[in-house]
Amino acid sequence: MQSAGARDTTRRRVLDATSGSRDPVVKALKADDASPHEQPIRVALDAAKPEAAEPVRAPSISPTILVQDVDRRFGDRMAVRHVSFTLHPGERVALIGASGSGKTTLLDMLAGGIRATNGFIFVEGVDIQAMSAPALRRHRARCGIFQQSPVLVPQLTIHQNVLVGRLTHWHWTKTLASMFVTMERDHIRGLLDNVGLGERQFDMPGQLSGGQQQRVAIARTLATEPVVLLADEPTASLDPVTAMTITRLVFDIAARLNATLVFCTHWLDLVRTKVDRVIGMRHGKLALDAPPSEVSEQALDHIYAGSTERIG
Ligand SMILES: Nc1ncnc2c1ncn2[C@@H]1O[C@H](COP(=O)(O)OP(=O)(O)OP(=O)(O)O)[C@@H](O)[C@H]1O
Ligand SMILES: [Mg+2]
Repeated sequence: MQSAGARDTTRRRVLDATSGSRDPVVKALKADDASPHEQPIRVALDAAKPEAAEPVRAPSISPTILVQDVDRRFGDRMAVRHVSFTLHPGERVALIGASGSGKTTLLDMLAGGIRATNGFIFVEGVDIQAMSAPALRRHRARCGIFQQSPVLVPQLTIHQNVLVGRLTHWHWTKTLASMFVTMERDHIRGLLDNVGLGERQFDMPGQLSGGQQQRVAIARTLATEPVVLLADEPTASLDPVTAMTITRLVFDIAARLNATLVFCTHWLDLVRTKVDRVIGMRHGKLALDAPPSEVSEQALDHIYAGSTERIG
């Protein structure tokens, strides 16, 4: 671990180096970039869109996140080592790497869920490790996390499951009242419309397919009004068509929220066509950080050397 003095000196240096502002890099998904086999999915999404556009909130300003020389150790194992990069507002980033290369660990640190062993993560110039508990809670509340196997509460309706995402914005008395009264019916309906499930608002999770449950989880994440979206292989357990639907939805939502998106995936066609930037990890280290147009096949071969997860 670094000493407090060393951390302060490095923190000052990093802040000096990053005090300039940067333009947001926001590019909406192009309407004409789908391959023919994606057509049915686009139709499905379009069906969910008309009323969908409205309930998503006006763009928030997503923060600049600076990762500086970060390590994370678990016992004797270095899961992440000497990783540095900057995430710009509205940027869409693919995070790739073989199993065990440190992707989830890195996402967990960005979300403030676990601490770095060494190094710094600055969110809008504030060191995440030095944040007060309320500030860290606020940062975590601004991060929407899409997981591979989202958990819905089986005893709660779809409405109540999505409402859970609102709790961070509420006083405890309102939270308590929500157990007895249907709160924010129209707002939750709007969020569910965004994922094409408005009609299922008062169904139970057990009545939905895996892909539909994943979409409810996305609506729940939307309810938190995130400005950073961290997707950890959210489609890995889904069939290819549903996976494509969910992926498009996540990218669409990121563009509409003007949120920074880090999308962890092994799906290289997505990497080549839908992101602004590719960050690749190998054995915990940063092995690649470039726009897709500059990512060579050799670089991808190197990142996935000896592994079988790569798709495409
Ligand atoms: N809580 C933990 N305790 C001990 N070791 C851990 C822990 N979390 C992760 N690791 C180790 O850290 C390394 C990186 O794990 P991580 O989950 O970040 O990889 P990943 O790139 O997300 O892999 P995958 O593609 O399989 O999800 C692995 O060697 C893993 O065993
Ligand atoms: Mg992982």
